[in-house]
Amino acid sequence: MSEDTTNNSDALSAIDSRTGKEYTLPIEHDTIPATKLREIKVNDDDFGMLSYDPALKNTVTCKSSICFIDGEKGILEYRGYPIQETASKGTYLEICWLLLNGELPTAAELDMFQAEISAATYAPQDIQKLHDVFNKNLHPMAMLESALAALGGEFDDIDDVLSAESRHQQIIRLIALTPVLAAMGYRHRNDLGPVEVNTDLSYSSNFLHMMLSRKGREHEIHPALEKAMDALLILHADHEQNCSANAVRAVGSSRVNPYSAVSAGASALHGPLHGGANQAVLEMLNQIDSVEDVPAFLESCKNGERRLMGFGHRVYKNYDPRAKVIGELAANVFDVVGHNPKLDIAIALEKAAVADEYFSSRKLFPNVDFYSGLIYSAMGFDARMFTVFFAVGRMVGWLAHWNEMMADSSTKIVRPRQIYTGYERRDWVEASDRK
Ligand code: SDX
Repeated sequence: MSEDTTNNSDALSAIDSRTGKEYTLPIEHDTIPATKLREIKVNDDDFGMLSYDPALKNTVTCKSSICFIDGEKGILEYRGYPIQETASKGTYLEICWLLLNGELPTAAELDMFQAEISAATYAPQDIQKLHDVFNKNLHPMAMLESALAALGGEFDDIDDVLSAESRHQQIIRLIALTPVLAAMGYRHRNDLGPVEVNTDLSYSSNFLHMMLSRKGREHEIHPALEKAMDALLILHADHEQNCSANAVRAVGSSRVNPYSAVSAGASALHGPLHGGANQAVLEMLNQIDSVEDVPAFLESCKNGERRLMGFGHRVYKNYDPRAKVIGELAANVFDVVGHNPKLDIAIALEKAAVADEYFSSRKLFPNVDFYSGLIYSAMGFDARMFTVFFAVGRMVGWLAHWNEMMADSSTKIVRPRQIYTGYERRDWVEASDRK
């Protein structure tokens, strides 16, 4: 538990040069309560001062005990456990329990949780029919966004968001069914027929099976690929107040059901600056023919022609710890499926960029998306599926944040303000008088 060093007398004093008045703002967890700024006024009937932070770059929106990141030191911990440990020693369902409940599960708890997930895992026929009418060119993330919202129609108890028991039911269903929906999108796009669930397999093995099985043909999932997928789901499971988790919290604060809230999270994740970057990385690597072309490619990033996708992060100003773990995972997978020269290009690109002043001066390092696509590609998946895999892993993080928020009785609907820069009040102009 992070030590609360707040001393009740900690305060920020500020003088408003417009009035000469001095104000004292209490400091808690190295933050000031933004609503206290409203006391700062020129005239008594003023609305009062607000803070301006368009991308929420320097704004704390909640208190959370789920995930801790130290961007300067490159630290990521799930409920206090370092990501390196959770990815190498845990299974995805174990980490789901940890993120949702705060502690690692006992053997009995894990058995019960796995049984709940298996019992909730099936192929909803209405959602299969929904996929059957999707245009095959529709991005599989857009299919997932639509299917997650539609999934709410499978159940009649989805709106009781203030009930812990109801929230638990929805959480189980969404963890169980998100991989099924992902597999539906993959199979629809590749004309592979309906999904066949096999809950005798592990969570990750069933996920791969639902995508890779072919009618009438047994499909053995290689243990190294199952382990790699399970580790990737863990590595993507949560990441504090990222863009998509923020979307889930903002949308969920209206007390909408969680299927619609996580659909909003999936839409945010879809973007190339966020989860869509893993697809963009592979598309970027496909533009580099050989290791010899890396210097010229990096120059095109430095002169602003393009971004080095999979590099940079709003929080990490050091190596993203997940990138290192995924880089090691990639080597294991390629030992199984055979070497991919794109890995050599990625390693050369990373080495050159990290040594280049343009990137080091901007503290740009590889992030979670830099190597992950290479592994998914080695498993035989096309680049448009990569962000869908990110969403399958991140589902539990979105749900843990949603659950934490809905359990907090002080939660209010998110509704920021603006600086109005438009016209002053003016009179209507008849069409005949408009120029
Ligand atoms: C994820 O928030 C999370 O936790 C996200 C995530 C999670 O687990 O949820 O970690 C997952 O989204 C990882 C990030 C994946 N995105 C990419 O890999 C896309 C490429 N990266 C960038 O677009 C960028 O680094 C962001 C979006 C990740 C962060 O952008 P910021 O913090 O808004 O930084 P910025 O765009 O203001 O850039 C600062 C400077 C700029 O240069 P100057 O204007 O100062 O000259 O750095 C440059 C940028 O041009 N820059 C890059 C760059 N990223 C930033 N230049 C080249 N290549 C890049 N990738």
